[in-house]
Amino acid sequence: MSNSKKRVLSGIQPSGYLHLGNYFGMMSKMIDYQAHNDLFCFIADYHALTSNPSPKILSLNTFNAVCDFLALGLSPDKTTFWVQSDVPEVTELSWILSSYASVGLMDRSTTYKDKISKGLTPNMGLYSYPILMAADILLYKSNLVPVGRDQKQHIEMARDIANRFNSNYGEVFILPEPDIVKETQLIPGIDGQKMSKSYNNTIPIFGKDKEIRKKIMNIITDNTPVNQPKDKDTPLFNLYCLFADESDKQLLSEKYDLPGLRYGDVKLELFEKIMDYFEPFRKERDMLQSKPDYVKDIISLGAKKAKLVALEVLDKVRSTIGLRIS
Ligand code: TRP
Repeated sequence: MSNSKKRVLSGIQPSGYLHLGNYFGMMSKMIDYQAHNDLFCFIADYHALTSNPSPKILSLNTFNAVCDFLALGLSPDKTTFWVQSDVPEVTELSWILSSYASVGLMDRSTTYKDKISKGLTPNMGLYSYPILMAADILLYKSNLVPVGRDQKQHIEMARDIANRFNSNYGEVFILPEPDIVKETQLIPGIDGQKMSKSYNNTIPIFGKDKEIRKKIMNIITDNTPVNQPKDKDTPLFNLYCLFADESDKQLLSEKYDLPGLRYGDVKLELFEKIMDYFEPFRKERDMLQSKPDYVKDIISLGAKKAKLVALEVLDKVRSTIGLRIS
């Protein structure tokens, strides 16, 4: 790996089946990074524990998330791709860092405050979530951390903790920069709100044909009569545009301006387009799903690569702070 390449690191929580919002939000961007950067990407299963998933679901979601990334084009040759808990050294660093994270800093976490305000009874894992995230970032010498806007504060907290540590002991940690993934296009869900699992308005990518079709047929539309022009600033039109080239978009736009368009026809066309778009990925996904041992080999190799960096940094940290008889 050439030294001039920036190390880009990000983690994704395993949260169930993949939908269009995940894909056009974070995932496709991560996969694009691998072409020109030293990409470190992991499935954050320790973080997922904070919501106490059932063991079966957590392990299934983790396996599925690994298959999703691989099927969608993440290349284990070009990147370091692993499951967070396969390199448990990160929890040791997290503990160490917790002594350099002030309670005042933790109390300011907006994601934590949001969750409490929604009535969730917080556990300590949820409270220390940003420290574990700081450990992920600092353990792997990350230069750049692409995250959504909601995670920006966590990167600032990681910098804060690293700064505090470095000012005590010298330049041990590399200070990470956030790379905020702008939602250039908000991906609407079938009800018109932002597509999100918590709104139950998603369109799955690797679901069964029937299920995907049903979701698409349920995309909300207005009741403009067939013989009148239609409004284009609507979820159906916007979703269609994600899968259409310029000439397709032009064609649909003209149809929307003229009388005679039936929303049902547009939905069927969108269904075809989505199925075609993901067809090659779906094949790859099916292959991976049918070979769990092959997938496990890929991921354990990824953990080995990640561990090399982790051990080097942790060793330096341990000797720096005196966790060793000299
Ligand atoms: N907290 C991130 C999220 O929910 C996931 C995550 C865990 C992460 N560790 C990370 C992201 C380290 C970037 C870097 O989206």
